[in-house]
Amino acid sequence: MDPFALERYFAQYEFSAPYLLSPSDTEPRTLDEMINRADTECRSLWNSLTLGYTESRGLPALRDAIAAFVTASNGASAGSVTADDVLVFSCAEEAIYTVARVLVRPGDVVACIWPAYQSLYQVARAAGATIRPINARETSAAWDLNVEDIDRSIPDGTRIVVANVPHNPTGMVPSPVSWDRLRQRTQTSGAMLFADEVYRPLGAMRRSLPSSPVIEDNGRSLSLGSVSKAFGLAGVRIGWVVCRDRALLRSLEQYKDYTTICASAPAEVLALIALRCWRDLVDEQEAIIEANVSVYRQFAEDFTELVTSAPVGAGSTCFPSWVGPGTARVMAGRAVTEAGVMVLPGDTFDPTGLGTGHLDLSQRFRVGLGRRSFAEVIGRFADHLTTAYLRER
Ligand SMILES: Cc1ncc(COP(=O)(O)O)c(C=O)c1O
Repeated sequence: MDPFALERYFAQYEFSAPYLLSPSDTEPRTLDEMINRADTECRSLWNSLTLGYTESRGLPALRDAIAAFVTASNGASAGSVTADDVLVFSCAEEAIYTVARVLVRPGDVVACIWPAYQSLYQVARAAGATIRPINARETSAAWDLNVEDIDRSIPDGTRIVVANVPHNPTGMVPSPVSWDRLRQRTQTSGAMLFADEVYRPLGAMRRSLPSSPVIEDNGRSLSLGSVSKAFGLAGVRIGWVVCRDRALLRSLEQYKDYTTICASAPAEVLALIALRCWRDLVDEQEAIIEANVSVYRQFAEDFTELVTSAPVGAGSTCFPSWVGPGTARVMAGRAVTEAGVMVLPGDTFDPTGLGTGHLDLSQRFRVGLGRRSFAEVIGRFADHLTTAYLRER
């Protein structure tokens, strides 16, 4: 499999650069904080935890809490999703790998909203699929899909349509018209809809999010969730798939016997604590993002000679263009070596040139809006841009 360019870039700089401008997760929480948030039952589970193997489908109370979270965060009626529809993974990334390995056969077509977090298409490609990008397009107001792209990119017989909403890196939430078209076309083509919803429900206050396709679904969609992004618990490494097709869920569970077998016992309890107070956790992260969006907008206004002001959608990231000299990669290289600011260049989203070129990824970079340090980091970035590019202004 080709190296995961974005993750390799993070591996190089995330723990060496002092200032991170581009993380996609939100403010990380401490273990202490999470234990203090535990209700009586979770506290007793934590204190008496046995560190043996766990249930392969996931801790029953955790599967219940995930079902309740998916139901409530979609405004659906109680019981719309049940624990039997849920399979726990040791992070969303494991689930992405497993879904592609179980569903994709050589010669399949997999259509994917583009640009995309690399594993969402790379694992399917390694399994022999042809990847058809569905382009995200930028207007001054918002990112959106368009119906011609959707129709063109999802031929009859497509195996999977991969839809990451809210979208990394653009923050896109497709308009109701394009989302309905994507769902309709997925259905008529005979494809499964794999909805990567790890950024849900972040941004629901800024954009109204469409319901997850697994609500009122007949078994033709899978919803992917995680505690990493919306809750600030990326180090816990718990994710899940919700799907009403029990046979498919069993196949995923069986495949997992060859990856992790079962999730980590402490991680499951920490995820349970989080899911029992998810509204508070999301509200706190949203407040940080809201404040950072204002800071970002001011920055974009101050540096119009060098960067565009990309629309901010939902989720925790946005994806402006670099319009200064050279490529975004060269700019990012200078920022990290000269100012210690790590900036993720957009070309990491398409290292093998699969895209149709509608977006010049070599000029894009990702901005992460979820961290408390954002104002300080973007201030350092602004100082660097001034010194490095605007001295004569
Ligand atoms: C769209 C998307 N899906 C999945 C993941 C992986 O999430 P996790 O930390 O749960 O493995 C990421 C992480 O950046 C992501 O951006």
